[in-house]
Amino acid sequence: MSNKIVVGAQWGDEGKGKITDMLAETADLVVRYGGGNNAGHTVIVGEEKFELHLIPSGILYEDKKSVLGGGVVIDPEAMVEEMEGLEERGISLANLYISETAHVIMPYHRMLDALEEERKGDSKIGTTGKGIGPCYTDKTARRGIRIADLLDEGRLRAKLEKALDYHNVLLEKVYNAEPLKAEEIIKAYQPYIEKLRPYVTNTSLLLNEAHKNNQKIFFEGAQGTLLDIDYGTYPFVTSSNPTAGGVCTGTGMGPTTIDDVIGVTKAYLTRVGAGPFPTELENEQGEYLRDKGHEFGVTTGRPRRCGWLDIPILKHAVRVNGLTEIALTKIDVLTGLDEIKVCTAYKHGEEIVEEFPPYLESEIPYEPVYENWHGWEEDITEIRDFEKLPENAKKYIKRIEELIGIPAKIISVGPGRKQAIIR
Ligand code: IMP
Repeated sequence: MSNKIVVGAQWGDEGKGKITDMLAETADLVVRYGGGNNAGHTVIVGEEKFELHLIPSGILYEDKKSVLGGGVVIDPEAMVEEMEGLEERGISLANLYISETAHVIMPYHRMLDALEEERKGDSKIGTTGKGIGPCYTDKTARRGIRIADLLDEGRLRAKLEKALDYHNVLLEKVYNAEPLKAEEIIKAYQPYIEKLRPYVTNTSLLLNEAHKNNQKIFFEGAQGTLLDIDYGTYPFVTSSNPTAGGVCTGTGMGPTTIDDVIGVTKAYLTRVGAGPFPTELENEQGEYLRDKGHEFGVTTGRPRRCGWLDIPILKHAVRVNGLTEIALTKIDVLTGLDEIKVCTAYKHGEEIVEEFPPYLESEIPYEPVYENWHGWEEDITEIRDFEKLPENAKKYIKRIEELIGIPAKIISVGPGRKQAIIR
C-alpha cells in the first residue's frame, strides 16, 4: 500500500497530468487537492487528446474514483462544461466525487480578477483570469460560498446576499463596475447546481475509509511549487498551496497517510504570467524550446516563457515538498541542441547564492551560474531503457540527480502514456 503525491517542482506545466495518468494505473483513487480551472492538464490516450482543468486525470480510467477535495475552488459553469465534454466522448462520470466543503467561484470573483489585474497595470500578476485569487480571498475572509451552500437554496441566497453587500461596494466604488443581483446569479447557476448535486459528498470521509481499506490514493497536484502562496515567488504566485503540505488541508487526510512525494520536473524550465525568471532565454534558444516543446498554456493559450533548468529552484522544491523522487519530463525536447546549460547557483553582486532566496527580483540581479553540457542528436522518443539513452543524455540526467540528491525514477521521452523510461 502506498499513497503518493504528484507535485509540480517548478512553475507549473511540468507534465503532471501525464505522470499522474501513468501512475493512476496502479491507484484506486485520484484526488485533486487545490487550485481550480486555472490548471490545465493534457493527457494523451492512444490517438485521443484530453485537456482537463478541474477533473482529475483518473477519470479516464473506468475503475478509479476521481475526487475533488475541499481545497479545490470550483467554477460550476467550467466544471459542468468539462463534465459534459467528457460524457460526450463516452467517459463515465459514475466515479466522480466532489467535496461539500470546496469553495465556489462566483461571477464576481471572475470580474474582480480581471478588474484588479487591469488596476495593477504594469505590476499585474498575469493571472489566468478564472477568479481563483478572489475566491480564495473570500474563503480566508470568511465570506466564501461552499459547494454545500449550493445545495440549499435558502442558505445560498442568504450567503450570497451577504457576500454581495461587500462585493457590490467594491465593484461600484473601487472599480466603477455594475453591481450584481443575487437572484440573477442563483438563476444562472441553477442548472449547474442540479448537474453537480449527485456528485457532492464528504470526500474526507470517503478518502479516509478508502485508506483504511488499503486502497491506493494518488494526489494530483496542480500549478507548481514556485506558484505556492507560501513557498513560491511571492507575490507572483497563485492563491493556494500546490506544495505537498496542501494535500492534508486540501483533502482532510492526515500527513501519516502519505508515503511518497514525486516532484514532476521539466528538463528545462517554463513559466506563464509575470514574475522573476533568472534562467529565461529571450533568444532563439528560448523560441526553439517553445516551438519544440509546444509551450503554450492549456488554459489561456499564452506562450510560455522558456529557460534553462534551475537547480536552486529544484533543491527548494525537494526540501519544501519532502520529495522522494523526481519524474523528469520533456527530455526529448532537448534533442538537437548542441549545448545544454544547467544553472547551479546565482551570482548576486559578489556573492554566490546556492539556495533559493525569498525574492528573486532585486536591485542587484540574481544572475545564473551555469554548467555547460553537450547535447545529443539521436531521437529518444522510442527508448524505454535508461542505458540505451545517448551518453550525453545519461550524463545530463545523472548530474541533475547528483545536484538535487534524489533519483529521477521516471523519465518521460514523449507525450504518450507509454513514452517513458521507468527505473
Ligand atoms: P491564478 O492562479 O489564475 O491567480 O494566476 C496566478 C499565477 O499562477 C499566474 O502567473 C498564472 O499564470 C499562474 N498559474 C496558475 N495556474 C497555473 C497552471 O496550472 N500552470 C502554470 N501557471 C499557472
